[in-house]
Amino acid sequence: MARRCQATSTRGGSRVSKSEVLLTFDECPRVRARLGYFGDMMHESISLALNQQIALEGQSSHTYLTMAVWAETKGFDGVADFLYAHAEEERQHMLKLMRFVNERGAVATVPSIHAGPTEYNGLREVFESILAHETRVTENINGVVDLCLQVKDYTTHNFMQWYVGEQIEEEALARKLLDKLALAGDDHGALYLFDRDILSVMGGMQANAGA
Ligand code: FEO
Repeated sequence: MARRCQATSTRGGSRVSKSEVLLTFDECPRVRARLGYFGDMMHESISLALNQQIALEGQSSHTYLTMAVWAETKGFDGVADFLYAHAEEERQHMLKLMRFVNERGAVATVPSIHAGPTEYNGLREVFESILAHETRVTENINGVVDLCLQVKDYTTHNFMQWYVGEQIEEEALARKLLDKLALAGDDHGALYLFDRDILSVMGGMQANAGA
């Protein structure tokens, strides 16, 4: 049986006493305001923040895709494979958020994606852009987590922890690859080895993270 709130409320502009109507806790605006409790409904600020994150993940997927095309047409087949796979991962991040938003009673927005840069001055610029982009994604995720605490949405807070962990991995991977590129410099032989070994570097880091 639903618990009942004994407080009075207003309905249709006129005051309604507890003898006339008993509201469930979910319905009672006083209880909701005092406890910051929104039942199964997602707070509007959270759905807005999650839709921003959806757009960012969609943009990430698109950005990795344009980088993959650049790498493939420059002869960096290993880097292209890495970037195509990463583009798909980012799309999955976007879909996971969309399904969550819809399941929580809000509506996910399918983002329109703007075309990013299609030319790069080399692999170093590609991976510097990746690190800058992932750092921005992390900041946005941290903002969503902070907002969840402010409005006491512990369900979304829990859901977002997966993204927090994912960003730690992604930033670490981008930094590791930039370190390797710094060692390679402009040496063509070293860049050839970087391109050949990049998938094993990624696989090794994922294996360590899952261990
Ligand atoms: Fe899903 Fe790399 O952010």
